[in-house]
Amino acid sequence: MKQRVTIPGRSRWGSVSALASLALLAACGGIDKYPETWSEPRSDWAREIWGLQQLTTVLGVGVGIAVFAVTAYIVLRFRHNPDHPEPEQVHGNTTLELAWTLIPAVLLAIIAVPTVRAIFASHREPPPNALVVEAIGWQWWWEFRYPVGNDTVVTANEIHVAVGTPVQVRIRGGDVVHNFWVPAMGGKRYAIPNRVNAIMFTPEEPGVYMGRCTEFCGDSHALMRMRLVAHTPDGFRRWFANEATPSSQLAEPVLAAADSAVLVGKQLFSQKGCVGCHAIRGHEGAVGRLGPNLTHVANRRTIAAGVLENNATNLRLWINNPQAVKPGAKMQNLGWTDQEVQYIVAYLQTLQ
Ligand code: CUA
Repeated sequence: MKQRVTIPGRSRWGSVSALASLALLAACGGIDKYPETWSEPRSDWAREIWGLQQLTTVLGVGVGIAVFAVTAYIVLRFRHNPDHPEPEQVHGNTTLELAWTLIPAVLLAIIAVPTVRAIFASHREPPPNALVVEAIGWQWWWEFRYPVGNDTVVTANEIHVAVGTPVQVRIRGGDVVHNFWVPAMGGKRYAIPNRVNAIMFTPEEPGVYMGRCTEFCGDSHALMRMRLVAHTPDGFRRWFANEATPSSQLAEPVLAAADSAVLVGKQLFSQKGCVGCHAIRGHEGAVGRLGPNLTHVANRRTIAAGVLENNATNLRLWINNPQAVKPGAKMQNLGWTDQEVQYIVAYLQTLQ
């Protein structure tokens, strides 16, 4: 009969490592399952950067192999050997010196020319058909603004673009320095207060791509994510048309017929002061800019800047105790009752 033997220390580490690998595996799926790597470029600019990466890798590895080969040859060929005479002692060798000056110079030029070209291409003037998006980094979320005529469509934490349409992202910091990076679209760029840093790229494949803030910007820097959604041109037009209008659920006849929880939630949103920090197109008095614009929040994939999946449970969790989800966030614990939170969530979930 087999007997189970447990070695205390071992099993403890076993469970710790099992838990750790579970956590790691969970990180691969879930809400962060979208591509977030520059080795799978999905825009012209990202492909250029990936090409540069491959070029420098190939050249670097080539130089490394050559240097190690010559070193190995010298070490073996001239190792101490009593049977061999001492090698001839020389001083200076013009051919060798020219070679090890010119070859690196040529290699650096091969890298420098496309690098400088890619840098300038990334912030060239946008063509007339380009989509211009302002990206503003705040502690700890992203505001995206689409100026159209006299109007501006505002959203948060999801930047929507169209495949085949050049995008200029005009990046700045709202409070402190942040850094905008969606690796599948190209390089990163600082978001600095009172300064605009623009990047240009053309998305090439529909999909959702992860991005995040890549400059330490305070307590919850690691919780400042974003998603770039690349639509087909038609899909983008539909998304944009919807964003530009008030949430359909705010229309009077719809509201009148709505569940009373939604109506109470809408009143609470005003009474409890949410309107001071959040804007909702069509919700009277909701014009605040301290927090994300919530006009179509129900359509977003996540809440709290990519930290939680957007569903009723997580909305309750976030509203009840934002500080537990995102330490230091400007949104405070407002001392809601459970019932009030249910109402607010019912209202927010209608904002499509
Ligand atoms: Cu914003 Cu780090």
